[in-house]
Amino acid sequence: MSAQRSEEDTVAFEVKDGIAWVSFNRPEKRNCMSPALNRQMMRVLDELEYRDDVGVLVLTGEGTSWSAGMDLQEYFRENEAKGLGATRQAQREAYGWWRRLRWYHKPTIAMVNGWCFGGGYGPLFACDLAFAAEEATFGLSEINWGILPGGGASKVAAELLSFRRAMYHAMMGENIDGKTAAEWGMVNEAIPLAGLKDRVTAVAKVLLEKNPVALKATKDAIRRVREMTYDNAEDYLIRAQEAANSFDGEGRKEGIKQFIDDKTYKPGLGAYNREKSQG
Ligand code: ACO
Repeated sequence: MSAQRSEEDTVAFEVKDGIAWVSFNRPEKRNCMSPALNRQMMRVLDELEYRDDVGVLVLTGEGTSWSAGMDLQEYFRENEAKGLGATRQAQREAYGWWRRLRWYHKPTIAMVNGWCFGGGYGPLFACDLAFAAEEATFGLSEINWGILPGGGASKVAAELLSFRRAMYHAMMGENIDGKTAAEWGMVNEAIPLAGLKDRVTAVAKVLLEKNPVALKATKDAIRRVREMTYDNAEDYLIRAQEAANSFDGEGRKEGIKQFIDDKTYKPGLGAYNREKSQG
């Protein structure tokens, strides 16, 4: 299968036991992001975001690649030939789903199974957590074909890496493996590929036990406060918790009750039993 893959078929997903496994699905093109894939990914994110049977979303890739970045043919060359309007539209479609993912309602995990280049850093950063195969390969290859790391990739490198590492990574066009990506802080952990899915499943299961309103408030808080002064952050966090209370007024009270009154768990050692509070 090649360029004939239908738009709908550029993204695959299945929902199992509360986890939505979403895959870049152009393995024959190393899952590079074409405009069709970007549009379809937005549709899939739309479909899954508020489903009751989805508690965590995992983004991975079919075949040997997570994503080989933007499609140099369909995203760059073909749109450039059509003119600025087409280029801007393609940018909106790509950036749109990454932004959507950065502020997704459910917790998100990047499961980086293979190649991860350039534009792939956008969705990588958009995911709350990231786990890579030790064998995965990360690179800002833009410099190798003559552009700067755009589409947020420079921002992602500067956010996740030290200044010196970001500079080296962006200027040299040298790749790093999953282990190094973990050492550098681009991903939470690197695991041998054979054990990657099990580890991600275990992490997702822990997230599924947490209060979902608190999780959404927490992930937004960590992203937002990065750009705030301390005082602004303090204020934002008060307002964010109060807003969360209006979505889930009883959750935290139940959490305190099960610890202080019932003595059935210790918050320092795990999550309260949400089923008890719901039932
Ligand atoms: N854009 C367009 N086509 C791509 C891309 C891409 N980013 N990546 C892979 N492909 C295509 C290849 O052209 C090839 O197509 P063909 O079968 O029709 O010839 C097919 O996918 C398979 O790719 P190979 O290169 O044969 O696969 P291999 O496993 O040997 O190498 C690798 C994988 C290293 C990922 C290589 O494909 C590559 O270097 N891709 C480009 C990576 C890159 O620099 N991406 C852009 C980053 S910059 C940005 O995103 C803004």
